[in-house]
Amino acid sequence: VPRDLEVRYPPQRAVSRIRIAPGALRRLGSFVSHTVPASRVALITDAQVAALHGPAALASLRGARLAAEMIVVPRGERSKSVRQLARLWDALGTLGLDRSGVVVALGGGVVGDLAGFAAASWLRGVPWICVPTTLLAQVDSSVGGKTGIDLPAGKNLAGAFHQPAGVLVDADVLGTLPPRQVRAGLAEVVKMGMAVDGALFRFAETHAADLALRRPEALEEVVRRSIAAKLAVVRRDPHERPGGGRAALNYGHTLGHALEATLGYRRLLHGEAVAIGMAVAGALSVRGAGLAERDRARQDALLERLGLPRRIPGVSLAALLARIQRDKKGRAGAARWVLTTRMGHASVPRSIPGRLVEAALLDAGARP
Ligand SMILES: NC(=O)c1ccc[n+]([C@@H]2O[C@H](COP(=O)([O-])OP(=O)(O)OC[C@H]3O[C@@H](n4cnc5c(N)ncnc54)[C@H](O)[C@@H]3O)[C@@H](O)[C@H]2O)c1
Ligand SMILES: [Zn+2]
Repeated sequence: VPRDLEVRYPPQRAVSRIRIAPGALRRLGSFVSHTVPASRVALITDAQVAALHGPAALASLRGARLAAEMIVVPRGERSKSVRQLARLWDALGTLGLDRSGVVVALGGGVVGDLAGFAAASWLRGVPWICVPTTLLAQVDSSVGGKTGIDLPAGKNLAGAFHQPAGVLVDADVLGTLPPRQVRAGLAEVVKMGMAVDGALFRFAETHAADLALRRPEALEEVVRRSIAAKLAVVRRDPHERPGGGRAALNYGHTLGHALEATLGYRRLLHGEAVAIGMAVAGALSVRGAGLAERDRARQDALLERLGLPRRIPGVSLAALLARIQRDKKGRAGAARWVLTTRMGHASVPRSIPGRLVEAALLDAGARP
């Protein structure tokens, strides 16, 4: 027997079925049974979504003769924890969810990331179906297969790539979402437009008033276009390899994550932090990546019309720089920034001279 073997396993081509339709939640049961050959369903959600949409989801699943039980976690980012993950494992054990079972995640990005990781790790991986109920989750986190939890050392540090077998998007559920959460989701739409799809940016620009008023037709259209834009990126680079295109989706996130961490994940919603992050990344893009000043101004004007913040709220420059250095996406100590070279095109992450970063942060309101 040779000492060194090279083993080639068949490529794992994950398939996801994605369905976007108003009122789709009422047909969750038939979507699940047409997507996976399961008879037992663990419906995982948070307390707020359970109260608003849990009964409809459960009734639809049971109406399709699926043995479904609901597992509820507290709402909020703090549920993306080892503690809640361990609770889910216990609950899945109690339900007796075996390999023929399926996890359905009903909720925002928190529930999707947590329940998706529970599915990825339970029995070394059972299928899951994502039913995103926030705009952020509908336009961004529900596709791409990133799942995981936060650790005391940082956000999203433990996780797995585990593509959902299905994604069911019902824009009607956004009707119960607080307006501030809708605006936060729109920040990721602007990101998708600036970083990967100029036509999406122009659509959001043309329909900014309808989006700001949360008109369902406009929201549904940006959901469709954002999912298509994200899929195009993720299919080319599913695992975010160095130099692969997926990192473009982190436009605005270097500073965004630093703001969230510095402020303790309370004061700003993720999308709000990303909006401020894009304002700064836009300024750096003009300085360091050839973005036309006119296009930077269009970005900031759109953020403003959508009711999103662009100024850094009372955080010191030193605190931000320290956080930015620690960002897990930075390598060898140097923080890296995704910059937009022109509308709809982001660059691979690159190091930016410290003095440019400091000037841009001070301009955006960081305390000296
Ligand atoms: N996996 C990915 O690719 C990816 C991408 C972006 C963000 N994320 C993660 O997503 C998380 C943020 O997601 P989020 O912004 O959706 O937050 P969230 O899941 O906490 O939802 C926000 C709030 O809205 C409530 N809610 C959800 N749907 C509702 C509805 N239809 N009506 C009324 N209330 C509703 C929730 O209970 C919660 O209180 C972060 O943890 C982030 O790291 C993941
Ligand atoms: Zn984001």
